Amino acid sequence: MSLFVTGTDTNIGKTLISAALLHAYALQGKRVVGMKPVAAGCESDGSYCDVTALQAASNVQVADTLMNPYRYPTAAAPHLAARLQGETIELPRILRSYTELSALADVVVVEGAGGFILPLNEQQNGGDLAAALNLPVVLVVGLRLGCLNHALLTVQAIHARGLKLAGWVANCVDEQMALRDENIATLQKRISAPLLGVVPYQLQPDARYVAASLDMASLVPR
Ligand SMILES: Nc1ncnc2c1ncn2[C@@H]1O[C@H](COP(=O)(O)OP(=O)(O)O)[C@@H](O)[C@H]1O
Ligand SMILES: [Mg+2]
Repeated sequence: MSLFVTGTDTNIGKTLISAALLHAYALQGKRVVGMKPVAAGCESDGSYCDVTALQAASNVQVADTLMNPYRYPTAAAPHLAARLQGETIELPRILRSYTELSALADVVVVEGAGGFILPLNEQQNGGDLAAALNLPVVLVVGLRLGCLNHALLTVQAIHARGLKLAGWVANCVDEQMALRDENIATLQKRISAPLLGVVPYQLQPDARYVAASLDMASLVPR
């Protein structure tokens, strides 16, 4: 039941939807934990908002270093943020953490960094991580101008790695988007995986509220 959550871009709702998926599984009585393998860009107090949000939505609490093995204060591409600290992101370390988490919970929701093939080190990218984890992918489409191309390219990249697209979520990040419903219909015609939900624009996005609107029954199993 574990999932890898990717998105059409950074800042389009991956964390919100990952947290909502955790709540939705928790409502089904599952032990759930979020994972953010690589976080880049901290708040002024030194915290990492994705880590905080995923922990708040998890009912299994683990050490920060387990659910978030790599963290960098600079908001930059992971391989560059890591290089600034003299580090290299290594997939085996992430896989080891994931294996530990999956022994502690029924469901691990792994939130990728940025878009699907964002580089993680000199050779590998987020898609390689999803493939190494061998998880079904949920694609969050941030509905705004440009999202059709980003969404369809991402679907191609997911399929190119032989991964299952378990479903996609239409997240209304732009309150003013023109022809929003037509954009959603366009993607529905071109993406064979189920649309799990259309998440409305919210002034104060709430993961529990979003959870209630996700069609968990239609998630395509592994
Ligand atoms: N449906 C929505 N309505 C309004 N704001 C949203 C919505 N989804 C996400 N946001 C806001 O957009 C920003 C980015 O969301 P987040 O989930 O952190 O994206 P990502 O994880 O892809 O970077 C946050 O400030 C979040 O509150
Ligand atoms: Mg995020």
